[in-house]
Amino acid sequence: MTSVPTQIDPGLLPSRVLASGVPIPPIGMGTFGSDRYSADDVATAVAGAIRCGYRLVDCAAVYGNESQIGVVLEDAFAEVAPRQDFFVMSKVWNDAHAPADAVASVHESLRRLRLEHLDAVFVHWPFPNHHPPHARAGTRDPQARPYVHERYMELWHALEDLVDVGLVRHLGTSNVTIPKLALILRDARIAPALIEMELHPCFQQPELFRYAVDHCVQPIGYSPLGSPSRPERDRSEDDLVDVEHPTVQRIARDHGVHPALICLKWAVARGQIPIPFSVKPEQYAANIATVLSDPLTPAEIEDMRGVERNNRLIKGQVFLWDGSESWLDLWDVDGTIPGWNGYGSPQAHGDR
Ligand SMILES: NC(=O)c1ccc[n+]([C@@H]2O[C@H](COP(=O)([O-])OP(=O)(O)OC[C@H]3O[C@@H](n4cnc5c(N)ncnc54)[C@H](OP(=O)(O)O)[C@@H]3O)[C@@H](O)[C@H]2O)c1
Repeated sequence: MTSVPTQIDPGLLPSRVLASGVPIPPIGMGTFGSDRYSADDVATAVAGAIRCGYRLVDCAAVYGNESQIGVVLEDAFAEVAPRQDFFVMSKVWNDAHAPADAVASVHESLRRLRLEHLDAVFVHWPFPNHHPPHARAGTRDPQARPYVHERYMELWHALEDLVDVGLVRHLGTSNVTIPKLALILRDARIAPALIEMELHPCFQQPELFRYAVDHCVQPIGYSPLGSPSRPERDRSEDDLVDVEHPTVQRIARDHGVHPALICLKWAVARGQIPIPFSVKPEQYAANIATVLSDPLTPAEIEDMRGVERNNRLIKGQVFLWDGSESWLDLWDVDGTIPGWNGYGSPQAHGDR
């Protein structure tokens, strides 16, 4: 194995540039503790990651650790680098889709993170629902609803107003599909600059990825290592393990690194921004350092294309609504968006 530097100069990282012209680092730090790591563990890891050179931090209201991360950010701005060097993102959870609730959620995230603005705010999932923390996969909220475009746009327009007043710099969608993104792009006054989506070698989402890039929406790849520590509720028998795929392992042997780093080299080469999570210093240091060293060859990148297995890990079962049959309903697999008659919406409006 190659030795890992504990600190890299973030200025050496090749930035990506958003449609707004604003640069964004090519890799970020995830902060979802997977019900396994405490808020303090995660905040300590964010502090260590910033010392290692990370400047992009992926937060969310629902991760329950923004207050602890806010303390870390405040210290980092004073001691490591100025605020403008960082790109801090947060997300509005499913229980805050009503416009006033979404605005309140962003204000709360700003307060907890001790920020005057967020560089990006995402709508975490396109489905409104309420769940207690750590809800099991079979749990159903009787009030859960599918995607209703008109409701989503009311939420979106409330977030656009936060951009207008400077509290938020960019907006992002998360866990949407091509039919949903097409509608959002059609009706947004401020287009999404970012799309957060599950992306790892066995789940490359090539069509959505291409669609986003073609529409100047930067993909952020979540669970870039195949989320090996994800909660039990997000595991099923058919799940594949990216770091055990023979091609990933063979390329890792050739580079003399852990297969996780091949997942990240591939992600960066392809153009998504991976946001790997780790609380282990040797892991998060290696994850950022790998961006700067020993890239995959064109032949290896081509080989990685063949690892795709359409293996979605984060299926979202718990967000299903009354009357829905399968988690596939969340992902518009036939190209249409299952609707909800209760709002007077058409049953399917993916073709509008
Ligand atoms: N928008 C969304 O809906 C959404 C959904 C999921 C995740 N996310 C975001 O994406 C981030 C990352 O996703 P994730 O946490 O699900 O999965 P991930 O980053 O694919 O996997 C994280 C796990 O991989 C292991 N790991 C990390 N670096 C490693 C290395 N260098 N070598 C070997 N193993 C390594 C660690 O496991 P051990 O702890 O066991 O060592 C770590 O807990 C989250 O933290 C969150 O910010 C967003």
